[in-house]
Amino acid sequence: MARKPQPVRKAVLPVAGMGTRFLPATKAVPKEMLPVVDKPVVQYAVEEAREAGIEQFIFVTGRGKAIIEDHFDHAYELEMLLKSRDKTSELNSLLEGLPVTGAVSFTRQQKPLGLGHAVWSARHLVGDEPFAVLLPDDLMVGTPGGLSQMMDVYNDAGGVVVAAEEKPLEEVKRYGVISPGEIKGKAVEVKDVVEKPKPSKAPSRLCIIGRYILQPEIFVELDRKEAGAGGEIQLTDSMARLIGRVPFHAVKTDCARYDCGDKVGFLQANIALALARPDIGPALKDILRRVPL
Ligand code: UTP
Repeated sequence: MARKPQPVRKAVLPVAGMGTRFLPATKAVPKEMLPVVDKPVVQYAVEEAREAGIEQFIFVTGRGKAIIEDHFDHAYELEMLLKSRDKTSELNSLLEGLPVTGAVSFTRQQKPLGLGHAVWSARHLVGDEPFAVLLPDDLMVGTPGGLSQMMDVYNDAGGVVVAAEEKPLEEVKRYGVISPGEIKGKAVEVKDVVEKPKPSKAPSRLCIIGRYILQPEIFVELDRKEAGAGGEIQLTDSMARLIGRVPFHAVKTDCARYDCGDKVGFLQANIALALARPDIGPALKDILRRVPL
């Protein structure tokens, strides 16, 4: 019988990007702290990871991102105030989002040299075990969540598992694109990956989105610090070098995915999640019906 893959206990959340597409909003506020309805984008990723069994959350931060640390800590004065005013549901909304003491750690990327470099910055905190990477910009909504659906494939196949989505050909130049092999249920075998190809050079329309389950061997590849597309150290290039050495699959989850790093995607996420909420959805629907288009 095949050995069960080593469990994935740790998640890396790279949050060191500059968020230039959201300026001036992101001049003093990290884009990961922008709210979708009433929760910062980054909190959705932490909740998705927790649902998938993650125990340790490793944030790769940079300058100006300290409020992310405050967000995942107790705010005693606020908690006391809410308690004294019997604002139980508000208090619970603070406490429910909080990882247990010791489950969160932070490291700094120091230089924004790209996603691969951000992940490499977490190597000492990850150590010699498999780990997940969640890009909080990609908000995934589904039951079970995106990372849980990927874990199902990982528990069977082990190795590397990425989330993927079919995109229109004109959009593939923004993504890592997969050369697909055999399809096994929800999983597609990955034969190759190409970062940001021209549409004419794309091996398919199947694009990697912001969820990964990786093996520690990736750090050896990232250690080369080779710049790829856009002069950045790309995670895709290092992942590509693991193909053939470890099993490598992509999962087309059935989650809705919103690109909250982009203004339209961010607005779409706010509208979709607000409409789905019983407390505010009906009122918003009413307002939207009356918006002149
Ligand atoms: P993006 O390229 O979407 O983030 O990276 P960005 O650079 O902040 O975006 P814009 O274009 O300037 O608005 C995807 C994810 O990788 C992280 C980002 O924080 C985001 O979660 N990232 C990117 C880093 O942590 N470090 C980097 O050097 C680059």
